[in-house]
Amino acid sequence: MGGVDLIPAPQAVRADAGEERFALGDAVRLEVGAGAERAARWVRGVLGAATGVEFGSEGAAVVSLRVDGELGPEAYRLTVTPERVEVVGGDGAGVFWGAQTVRQLLGPGAFRRAPLPGGGGWSLPVCEIADRPRFGWRGFLLDVARHFMPKDGVLRQLDLMAAHKLNVLHLHLTDDQGWRMEVKRHPRLTEVGAWRERTRVGLAPSKVWDERPHGGFYTQDDLREIVAYAAERHITVVPEIDVPGHSQAAIAAYPELGNTDVVDTAALGVLDRWGVNPNVLAPTEAVLRFYEDVFGELLDIFPSTFVHVGGDECPKEQWRESATAQARIAELGVGDEDGLQSAFIRHFDRWLAERGRRLIGWDEILEGGLAEGAAVSSWQGYAGGIAAARAGHDVVMCPQTQVYLDWRQADGPDEPVPIAHVRTLEDVYRFEPVPPELTAAEAAHVIGTQANVWTEVLDSARAVDYAVYPRLSAFAEVAWSELPAPAERDWAGFEARMRTHYARLDALGVEYRPASGPRPWQRRPGVVGRPKEGPPPIV
Ligand code: ACM
Repeated sequence: MGGVDLIPAPQAVRADAGEERFALGDAVRLEVGAGAERAARWVRGVLGAATGVEFGSEGAAVVSLRVDGELGPEAYRLTVTPERVEVVGGDGAGVFWGAQTVRQLLGPGAFRRAPLPGGGGWSLPVCEIADRPRFGWRGFLLDVARHFMPKDGVLRQLDLMAAHKLNVLHLHLTDDQGWRMEVKRHPRLTEVGAWRERTRVGLAPSKVWDERPHGGFYTQDDLREIVAYAAERHITVVPEIDVPGHSQAAIAAYPELGNTDVVDTAALGVLDRWGVNPNVLAPTEAVLRFYEDVFGELLDIFPSTFVHVGGDECPKEQWRESATAQARIAELGVGDEDGLQSAFIRHFDRWLAERGRRLIGWDEILEGGLAEGAAVSSWQGYAGGIAAARAGHDVVMCPQTQVYLDWRQADGPDEPVPIAHVRTLEDVYRFEPVPPELTAAEAAHVIGTQANVWTEVLDSARAVDYAVYPRLSAFAEVAWSELPAPAERDWAGFEARMRTHYARLDALGVEYRPASGPRPWQRRPGVVGRPKEGPPPIV
């Protein structure tokens, strides 16, 4: 690519064979057209801090940022001549992604927060790049429920996403092991639900316990700040409140939310171990009203069109035993417990649609049929996504066997607490979001793809870095670039570009798993754990 080692790879690059470069000097005149303001703030703030260059109204060198709607959503054209850098975006997001490419062209040093002493002499190679994303939804799920990530860590993840041209942060805010969003009408959700007494380290049958309390939550203002910080980077935050399963933290806070005629829900604490859990919400009107309060406050904070309601892994034992649940099945005429789950999800489907939003949920929400407009996150392989696309629903492909980034990157006693199967950087690079059996019309429903990081065994920002990187860099290329079929992808070429990219990650302070061997601090002696059961590998 003519020395232009970009990740994700752009659609087209023309790099001059000569050594001509655009030199920034000490001051650059920044020309900002209408719609390019966020990119301009980012250039002044982030590139200005990294390089020490003043991006203002003075300077012989010119960087121009502007929008030209002809280019299409999120597309950009970057032209570097010895005199001038032009970033033209199809919209503000396109300009912003073009600015991310400028940062990569400046070199790894542009990924620091301040220039090194004696640094300077910043320049760009003369080139022309035409680029646009393959998918409109290029997502990353961060599970802040299993292990809380303080706000600063989330803001940092948004910076890392922006550097990879990813544009959807799916924030998994609630689960059995923790509730992370302040809800003003129901304060015990965080007073009680945000903390657990202790934590099993690794999956059963691990006998290792971390006896320290763990928890934390985001105030509504914290969440508004996260949303605003994301929006400055043209990233949408899609919040998830998981119902009706994965709800023990909420039940610990408000025992009446559970199936009180089957279990003593007042005795349930916030769950301190991992796995699919039988303590699910009661399917009553009162519980629906409670969650309407929760979603009502959530809509005030998150402007995203899509709102994620979870819907995964809801065991039905308690509903089978509960007279209340059985009476509800009869009252609603929904036949059985699966029908009851479907009614629960459909309620919020309608409720969100009435408020101008769209429901998205895990592929289990397909059982029992979905209302028009609802979308599916396909996690149990491709099958749910294929069924949803064929039924005319939009799909985000995130099959666990390919893009669950908590699954470990390598085997070995020095690797962190194990979970599931090994998925290497190359496996992720060869992930294809659109299954070949879809027709073109069906494939158009695959609105995007997402990599998910669940944090049962990732108890710190460092552990998340180690699991996520460098694989999220490969995933970003899958989501953004027009790559050939998996077997034909230029893995060697990607690895070669990764050599430059590792230097960028180093400058950013990302504690990725190195290409060879773990980092010593990741060793977790004494914890064996059992690999998570998964469906058979997709072939
Ligand atoms: C999931 O992994 N339960 C969505």
